[in-house]
Amino acid sequence: MRTYLVTGGAGFIGSNYIHYMFRKYGGDIRIINVDALTYAGNLENLKDIESRENYTFVRADICDKEAIAAIFAENDIDRVVHFAAESHVDRSIRDPEVFVRTNVLGTAVMLNCAKAAWELPDGGFKPDKKFLHVSTDEVYGSLEEDGGYFYETTPYAPRSPYSASKAGSDMLVKAYMDTYRFPANITNCSNNYGPYQFPEKLIPLIINNALHGKKLPVYGDGRNVRDWLYVEDHAKAIDMVQEKGRLFETYNVGGHNEKQNIEIVRTILNTLREMLPDSDPRKALVSDDLITYVEDRKGHDRRYAIAPDKIKAEIGWEPETMFEDGIRRTIQWFFENEDWMRNVTSGDYQKYYEDMYRNR
Ligand code: NAD
Ligand code: TYD
Repeated sequence: MRTYLVTGGAGFIGSNYIHYMFRKYGGDIRIINVDALTYAGNLENLKDIESRENYTFVRADICDKEAIAAIFAENDIDRVVHFAAESHVDRSIRDPEVFVRTNVLGTAVMLNCAKAAWELPDGGFKPDKKFLHVSTDEVYGSLEEDGGYFYETTPYAPRSPYSASKAGSDMLVKAYMDTYRFPANITNCSNNYGPYQFPEKLIPLIINNALHGKKLPVYGDGRNVRDWLYVEDHAKAIDMVQEKGRLFETYNVGGHNEKQNIEIVRTILNTLREMLPDSDPRKALVSDDLITYVEDRKGHDRRYAIAPDKIKAEIGWEPETMFEDGIRRTIQWFFENEDWMRNVTSGDYQKYYEDMYRNR
């Protein structure tokens, strides 16, 4: 049975990935989820799978060499899928250091521990061991409004402390592949949205604020463009790259779903109005008048857009979820999981670990 070590599995994409993998492989794989449970880590995201026999949660910091080495020593890990990171651009502008620590140093620790566990005396590696580093399209910098796409060959030009730290982590993975022929892949994905996304990011923040009649903050002129991907499509891409991709290669993940931020906000408002029944008191709160243009983000990247030609041609992956469907599914999920949002916004979710693991 193949054993996966997933880092950051209590976060947004990591928890969606773990759900996806158990849906796809059931009892045929084992997953060990290592997460430090920062403000962004929420074990409630995984409560329906936590009692599975083939799932283990370990609370550990990826910068803690001993803790990570111990996991490799105690388990025969076949796949590493490395999500753990500080992920929010606005936070990186206020406090860059923790981004360098987790994203760069933490990635170095993960690489080093995997290499130590997998290397053979002749300098090669045990067969069928693979490390996948989950990264972002933000490492490529900012595109002009009419200025092309990001390809795997686009030079790195990160512009925020977040993207600079992710670029640093990508470079480390590339260095391990070049220096040691370490068996890895990198995926650079565009903006994700979907269930379990922390409401500091645009889409869940707008959904939550609109339902409470709170202002909807739009940075600058609202015309910055992001290329949005439904999170389950990303989870599928990661699995396909790891199983079908060529080792040592980078694959861009995304797909021609570019939207201006203001379009996203208006789409959410329209979809909420369509989906809420007239009898729901929240319907009266949902209004375009909530849209509030606020001071722009410092150094705000203008446009991101992925050309997914390589992953489509080599692996056969393409995005399956149309934005109109994905946003409805996301809103429906937030309707059905009001407690999740309440716990996240009140901070109660951080007590979940103590309650859940008190006697373990
Ligand atoms: P997230 O912030 O929701 O989750 C990050 C997880 O990592 C949390 O569970 C957190 O507790 C954990 N973590 C943070 N620091 C840690 C540490 N030192 N040790 C162990 N665990 C730690 O992030 P996300 O949006 O799910 O992003 C996951 C990965 O995907 C990141 O590497 C991010 O750069 C990348 N990515 C995100 C997007 C996006 O749109 N969200 C797009 C492309 C790539
Ligand atoms: P975000 O979800 O933070 O992702 P990223 O910065 O990684 O792309 O932001 C998406 C876009 O939405 C980005 O252009 C910034 C903008 N934005 C707002 O206009 N208002 C907000 O309150 C937030 C959080 C983001």
